[in-house]
Amino acid sequence: MRLRASAAGALAGDVRVPGDKSLSHRALMLAAMTVGETKVTGLLEGEDVLATLTALRDLGVGIETGSDGAYHVQGVGVGGLAEPTGVLDLGNAGTGARLLTGLLAGHAFTSFLTGDDSLRQRPMGRVIKPLREMGTSFLARSGDRLPLAVTGKTSLSPIVYEQPVASAQVKSAVLLAGLHAPGKTSVIEPAPSRDHTERMLRHIGAEVVTEALDDGRSAITVTGQPELAARDLPVTGDPSSAAFLMVAASLLEGSSIRIDHVGLNPLRTGLFTCLNEMGAAIRTGNGELAAGEPASWVEIEHSRMDAIDVPAERAPSMIDEYPILAVAAALAKGKTRMNGLAELRVKESDRLAAIADGLSAAGVKVEMGEDSLIVEGTGDPPRGGCTIDAGHDHRIAMSFLILGCLSQHPIEVTGAETINTSFPGFVELMNKLGAKIDVAG
Ligand code: S3P
Repeated sequence: MRLRASAAGALAGDVRVPGDKSLSHRALMLAAMTVGETKVTGLLEGEDVLATLTALRDLGVGIETGSDGAYHVQGVGVGGLAEPTGVLDLGNAGTGARLLTGLLAGHAFTSFLTGDDSLRQRPMGRVIKPLREMGTSFLARSGDRLPLAVTGKTSLSPIVYEQPVASAQVKSAVLLAGLHAPGKTSVIEPAPSRDHTERMLRHIGAEVVTEALDDGRSAITVTGQPELAARDLPVTGDPSSAAFLMVAASLLEGSSIRIDHVGLNPLRTGLFTCLNEMGAAIRTGNGELAAGEPASWVEIEHSRMDAIDVPAERAPSMIDEYPILAVAAALAKGKTRMNGLAELRVKESDRLAAIADGLSAAGVKVEMGEDSLIVEGTGDPPRGGCTIDAGHDHRIAMSFLILGCLSQHPIEVTGAETINTSFPGFVELMNKLGAKIDVAG
């Protein structure tokens, strides 16, 4: 699908964004590990999460939607999944593939996993390595990529795993495998990454302890073989989806929008910090806890923005937001410098190259390094007037449509159907706020 975004006027309105993708994958998988029925509300009905849902059904988990719109998951208990008869296809979902591999590690049967063109290029070695240490066997394509065969074990060996790179997906895969190991399994992270798995596991009764180590790293330890309780799992709005609306409203003169019930886990709000430093006008409420996760309304008004230096340490708390931050930087005045971006090379696309190429095509000055990016904004709308291929990357598609709303000439995005992986209804929601995005040609 080819979409075209044209220069927009002020955005206004009071909206919600769909459920958090990270929480939605976890809610389904963890509910499956409980004993009893879990009601999941606010689930993201995007393709990534639906791929996880289908895979869990293939593994013998009953999941139905009720007349209340909630998803009802019949837990099979830790270690209770059944051998699937076919190949599990996780589509575009890196989180689905990696976390599910952690669960499958604790089951004594062989499963076959695959994904779309993008997912089949992404590294799985980062989860294979620790899970092999725990006793799981793998057979993978060259470069440790999907398709992948996983043969698990009923009782895994607990390990202490020192992660070379901060990754919530890897941490979560090891913790989920750790549920199937007698004793304590620990992950040591070089820097804190999103802690949704830890919070949700605690919410359903697992023992999960996070300790700060003397060298600045943290250790997360799960006690294996628990009986997990089926407790309601409300999913909060996705801050990574809210990010697109926030940047657009910050930069379009006269805008004022409110987004209700946005997840504000402090390990996800690096973009909020950046936008505030750039001069954005963002307000949030005090927040309430939903299944251990803070959430609040967020209000954003237009304001003038200046360039900033984004420290590398902030990367884990905004790893999915660099494409839209780069769009904000393209309109802010001055050079915004971003460092510590190596992980962007192995996302749904090589995001660093996709951002740099797309911005250049739209007439923005950029300098790309191995793991860094400098974007130079003039404080005025860039030229735009280009076509960007989404390359199976939903966040690239949405970021460049937002850039189209902010540019002098329309920007077209091809392969835009990928937006449905994380943000179904994105175009309708943006247009409801006042944007001009339509199907091109
Ligand atoms: C996610 C973690 C991040 C993020 C991804 C979702 C998760 O990946 O990019 O979109 O739900 O755990 P890494 O943990 O590999 O950095």
